[in-house]
Amino acid sequence: MTYRIAVIPGDGIGPEVTTEGLKVLKTIEELDPSLSFSFESFPWGCEYYTENGKMMDDDGIEKLKDFDAIYLGAVGFPGVPDHISLWDLLLKIRKGFDQYVNLRPIKLLNGSSTPLKDDPKLRNIDMLVVRENSEGEYAGAGDWLFKGKPEEVVLQTGVFSRKGTERIIRHAFEIAKESGKSLTSISKGNALNYSMVFWDEVFEEVSQDYPEVTTYSYLVDAAAMFFVTDPGRFEIVVTSNLFGDIVTDLGAGLAGGLGLAAGANINPERNYPSMFEPVHGSAPDIAGKGIANPLAAVWSVSQILDHFGHEDWGARVLEAIETVLTEKKANTPDLGGDASTSAVGTELCRVLEEKFKNE
Ligand code: NAD
Ligand code: IPM
Ligand code: MN
Repeated sequence: MTYRIAVIPGDGIGPEVTTEGLKVLKTIEELDPSLSFSFESFPWGCEYYTENGKMMDDDGIEKLKDFDAIYLGAVGFPGVPDHISLWDLLLKIRKGFDQYVNLRPIKLLNGSSTPLKDDPKLRNIDMLVVRENSEGEYAGAGDWLFKGKPEEVVLQTGVFSRKGTERIIRHAFEIAKESGKSLTSISKGNALNYSMVFWDEVFEEVSQDYPEVTTYSYLVDAAAMFFVTDPGRFEIVVTSNLFGDIVTDLGAGLAGGLGLAAGANINPERNYPSMFEPVHGSAPDIAGKGIANPLAAVWSVSQILDHFGHEDWGARVLEAIETVLTEKKANTPDLGGDASTSAVGTELCRVLEEKFKNE
């Protein structure tokens, strides 16, 4: 079976880290003759914008729609306003393909370290954040009135539809039920007196269909504190688009940094391709230096393999990441090493190959 993967390396460190992810997929192809991948790369991003006045082709969504998956590096770079670059490429794809489930594992891998104090309780970091990825605070609705005048007013409206809220919460319950884990909802009904009151009501309603799932509900401010003081209390977490964005960078910080955080943008109905990408951005501060950590992008490759139903390979890739972290022979500067991005990718492929041959 040949899987067709659209690759959008994007901006900054995006091309540097996706190169390593592709190296891993090519290694797997060599090791397992039953698997093959075809890649088509799209040059979209901020440079493309500077040359062509647009972030992607006008028929970009159409061009991507028949791929089995999209593999993306990062989008956004100084010189192009972020709200243009992101809305015209990354968010356009998430919304265009109704990738309403954003799965972001926060897991302290073997060999990784946490800034939390050295207490075994605080090493128990293993959660999956199920972030709403299609509406909410990212609905893009608002207005800018009386621009530049003393009475200037700016509105940014959150949109929480019954359909959008229920489907993400239900999806998270399904994951919790299947894995036998608890489900925590993170919201903010005390201050956000429409959207989050509604969110809490829907969570309560849907929970009636899942009596076997233990549930918790936290206000986002308290949740942020518990992420740091007692991360072990979170297993499956469901939250809105913006809160999910914020708590997953917080989680990344707890579990080894942004260089180790992966995310999958899923269209569960499989009407459209899903998209896989590291949680981090284009990291302009280190772009072009060849020192970006590619492991988040490689973890996204593991998520692609899981998505294709090759969980055996997904697990092998994650194990290889843990080996690379544990052996510390090739770690990038963010992890305290001095290896280059490509040296980490090469070492990872070597470990993967060795593991597979010894199975
Ligand atoms: P960032 O994630 O790019 O960087 C934050 C910090 O983490 C920087 O110090 C960076 O060097 C470090 N970092 C990130 N990834 C790393 C890696 N793989 N290895 C080592 N260090 C890493 O966030 P930012 O600086 O706030 O944003 C930069 C640009 O990226 C902005 O244009 C932003 O809008 C965009 N962005 C895009 C995405 C995406 O495409 N999914 C995600 C976040 C930010
Ligand atoms: C992420 C990013 C994006 C988001 C930005 C770049 C629009 O921060 O994927 O976490 O907020 O979803
Ligand atoms: Mn983010």
